[in-house]
Amino acid sequence: MKTGISLFAVFLSVVLLISCDKKNVNDDSCDNCPEEDPIDGPYEPEDYNISAPSWVLQSPIVPSDNPMTVAGVELGRHLFYDPILSSNGTMSCASCHAINKAFTDGRQFSTGVQGIDGFRNSMPLFNLAYTDAGFFWDGSSPSLEEQALLPVEDHTELNESWENVVSKLSEHDEYPKLFRAAFGIERKDEITKELAVKAIAQFERSLITFNSRFDRIVQYNDGWFTEAEKRGRDLFFVEPNTQDNTHPGCSHCHVGTNLTNNLFMNNGLDDVADLTNFTDLGLGAVTNNVFDNGKFKVPSLRNIELTAPYMHDGRFATLEEVLDHYATGGHGVLNEDVNIRPFPLTAEQRSDLIEFMKSFTDTSFVNNPAFASPFE
Ligand code: HEC
Ligand code: HEC
Repeated sequence: MKTGISLFAVFLSVVLLISCDKKNVNDDSCDNCPEEDPIDGPYEPEDYNISAPSWVLQSPIVPSDNPMTVAGVELGRHLFYDPILSSNGTMSCASCHAINKAFTDGRQFSTGVQGIDGFRNSMPLFNLAYTDAGFFWDGSSPSLEEQALLPVEDHTELNESWENVVSKLSEHDEYPKLFRAAFGIERKDEITKELAVKAIAQFERSLITFNSRFDRIVQYNDGWFTEAEKRGRDLFFVEPNTQDNTHPGCSHCHVGTNLTNNLFMNNGLDDVADLTNFTDLGLGAVTNNVFDNGKFKVPSLRNIELTAPYMHDGRFATLEEVLDHYATGGHGVLNEDVNIRPFPLTAEQRSDLIEFMKSFTDTSFVNNPAFASPFE
């Protein structure tokens, strides 16, 4: 009888050892190798190359610990569009970053799953591989990887814990395979929030827009500006021999490949008695330097036609309102940039400037199926 039991025990442990061995687990206990743990499916990483035209001289900034792969970008695209990231399964990143609006949401303030409004205007997502100036209107997020951690747990956004997201992803039919294809992991319990945000960041870096009418005319001599656009262009870009205090001078700040100097500045929106009185301190809250209060990221003007309303707090509904603001020349607040000065603006000049800015719209970008939802 005794021998019977120990024989049975030996038999049992052999069976258990074999089943563990099959799953490539070095543990001697099978508590750690449940049936669903290993992931089948291929891991054949293929480099993803950002497809920027040759006239873009700057190289994309890709962190060495998160090289882009085709499968990584694809996983990121799934996660970006999947409401699995939200507590009640109703919202994804794309709810506030919609492709047809150059990845903004068209609202003054974004509303999260609980119906609570945030306090800033959603930002467009494109050419993000070309800046390391800090993300968010106030530059508070140092990298796309770090940024992508935040919306999930923000109660005014997706309001979900990463722990839950990771367990939903591990139990999902498709995601374990996508994670394996992207990162070569072998078991479902190797899915982490760190890998999820790496994939999202890879997808975000793939969102490239360099094919606006403006680009085609300037870079390839493909087409012509209309007369109105030409007048607008000359107002936007400062002509050296007409430099005086009364030009719009937009290109002092909205300049270069992405029509931004990548700096944080005060463009004269708020009339405050002193620098501590801004409702939103912007960069100042990040640096704790009073002189940075009220400074915000100089946004790219690419696709500006599609990203209304405007400014960090979405205060202007239209580009007309934006131009009227600039023409009044700010409020003389101490840290306003010197290029914020009043200038004359006729109705025709206003519409010329807007016509010109509309040439920054890249319709091939917002219609690119590679950037659209994989679920539709
Ligand atoms: C509820 C709406 C909402 C959701 C959901 C949301 N965002 Fe945002 N996003 C915003 C707002 C608003 C800002 C600007 C916030 C600020 O400056 O404080 C922003 C800013 C960003 C930026 C900074 C861009 C730049 O140029 O600095 C990135 C990147 C970004 N979001 C990516 C994501 C990703 C990835 C997700 C999903 C994991 C996501 N967002 C989900 C509203 C949202
Ligand atoms: C001194 C630098 C500076 C100059 C000059 C300047 N801007 Fe801006 N611009 C900014 C900053 C900074 C912001 C963001 C401010 C904020 O949201 O608080 C901005 C925001 C904008 C926005 C809103 C973008 C968005 O995504 O919401 C538009 C449109 C714009 N500027 C157009 C212009 C035009 C047109 C001119 C010329 C008439 C101009 N700017 C001149 C710095 C400047």
